[in-house]
Amino acid sequence: MTPPDYAYLRKLLKECSGLDLSADKQYLVESRLLPLARKSGLPGIPELVQKMKSGAGALIAEVVEAMTTNETFFFRDKIPFDHLKETVIPALVQARAARRSLRVWCAACSTGQEPYSIAMCLKAAGPALAGWRTEIVATDLSPAVLEKSRTGIFSQFEVQRGLPIQMLVKYFTQAGEFWQLNADIRAMVQHRQLNLLQDFSHLGTFDIIFCRNVLIYFDQDTKAGIFGRLARMLEPDGVLALGAAESVVGTTNAFKPCPQRRGLYRLNAVPAARAGVVTMMPGAMKAVASAR
Ligand SMILES: C[S@@+](CC[C@H](N)C(=O)[O-])C[C@H]1O[C@@H](n2cnc3c(N)ncnc32)[C@H](O)[C@@H]1O
Repeated sequence: MTPPDYAYLRKLLKECSGLDLSADKQYLVESRLLPLARKSGLPGIPELVQKMKSGAGALIAEVVEAMTTNETFFFRDKIPFDHLKETVIPALVQARAARRSLRVWCAACSTGQEPYSIAMCLKAAGPALAGWRTEIVATDLSPAVLEKSRTGIFSQFEVQRGLPIQMLVKYFTQAGEFWQLNADIRAMVQHRQLNLLQDFSHLGTFDIIFCRNVLIYFDQDTKAGIFGRLARMLEPDGVLALGAAESVVGTTNAFKPCPQRRGLYRLNAVPAARAGVVTMMPGAMKAVASAR
């Protein structure tokens, strides 16, 4: 790949998805995009770039998608999910006793292991949430991963990564070589395509936001901007979960780490611009989702 082609791809990926590639990542781009070029009937990356420059929108979307990292697994990092079950959900159950509803956003949900892990944590609360409206909104940039997540179907390999056997038996049904999440768990998760670089205030406010292992690919300014906008989406007593290699420290003052709760963050103060955020009721959210 020529240096100008790499510069073009770097700029485009940063603008379209936030992906911040350092100057020495040509090998990564080549290994991800060469198969795409071949699949599109093109001999190599120069021809792919040429076609992209001529305004092939669908091809650009495919390039962006090919460059995303979709690695995920059930109950990834374990500890945030333990906190969710043991402290966060019980505290919110008390705090929302009058409202009897809980909203969770799983941003950058990939193929679904994360939002369904959250769903299993909510299920584990049992009678405490009986009759409540619980919503998990799962979003991602990539239509392909969302499509897979919607099916709730996972391979033997995928269910062996992080999922306790008791949960496999309790919440999944075997279908040949695959396992499908039971309909009640699947129904707890609504899927929507969403790019974190774009406005997401229309989603309304949430009690819990998971935004894990995606900001790690962005530069400081992009991360800071997203943290600022996430802060306006979180209820004052809500919780933000980040990935094990991610932190707010040195990037934003909007959140502070929860003491003794690794991976979890709370608002430092309620952002002044909260008045501008629409709190969308669950019914309206369902209507929007089904209109897609
Ligand atoms: C490494 S996976 C993380 C999945 C899950 N959150 C976890 O921690 O296991 C990163 C996901 O972020 C998504 N992604 C990348 N850039 C994005 C963007 N700008 N907006 C929304 N999602 C994005 C990718 O499509 C991918 O599914």
